[in-house]
Amino acid sequence: MSESARHGDGLPREAKRAIDELRPHYPTTEALLLPALHIAQRHWGGWLPDEAISAVARELDLAESKVYGVVTFYDLFHQHPVGRHRIRVCTNLSCTLRGGEEILHAVRRHLKVDENEVTADGRCSFVHFECLGACEQAPMMMIGDRYHGDLTPRRAVEILEGLD
Ligand code: FES
Repeated sequence: MSESARHGDGLPREAKRAIDELRPHYPTTEALLLPALHIAQRHWGGWLPDEAISAVARELDLAESKVYGVVTFYDLFHQHPVGRHRIRVCTNLSCTLRGGEEILHAVRRHLKVDENEVTADGRCSFVHFECLGACEQAPMMMIGDRYHGDLTPRRAVEILEGLD
């Protein structure tokens, strides 16, 4: 899809069509918001820039503030470009007490990008995260849906090196 088609005034045609197909299955536009955001995110290459959020708000006739509220609440929506492998390093208390900050530094050093940036090859991006719900495996990180626990900086780098 061309840039102009993607970043015009509204949603790309295909995204609009996909949302319209879902409409009869949802009782309200609020209920349709989550799937509509997933569709928009897919069409914007895996993340939701401001214009995508505005386009969804207009399409569903919802306040932009409401749409922003949902986007910022759910971890599955991204306001920055993300890599093919999305890495979340836990820096909450249990993980920090067991070396979570060193894991974060090791990931940053190895990938040579900062948080919310994507490696030049498009493979990876990372963020720090507040408790991934696996404190018993501290320090830990998630890559996509997969948990990696009891990490050391060296083990974290080995895992990153093993990614396709
Ligand atoms: S504090 Fe790290 S998973 Fe809970």
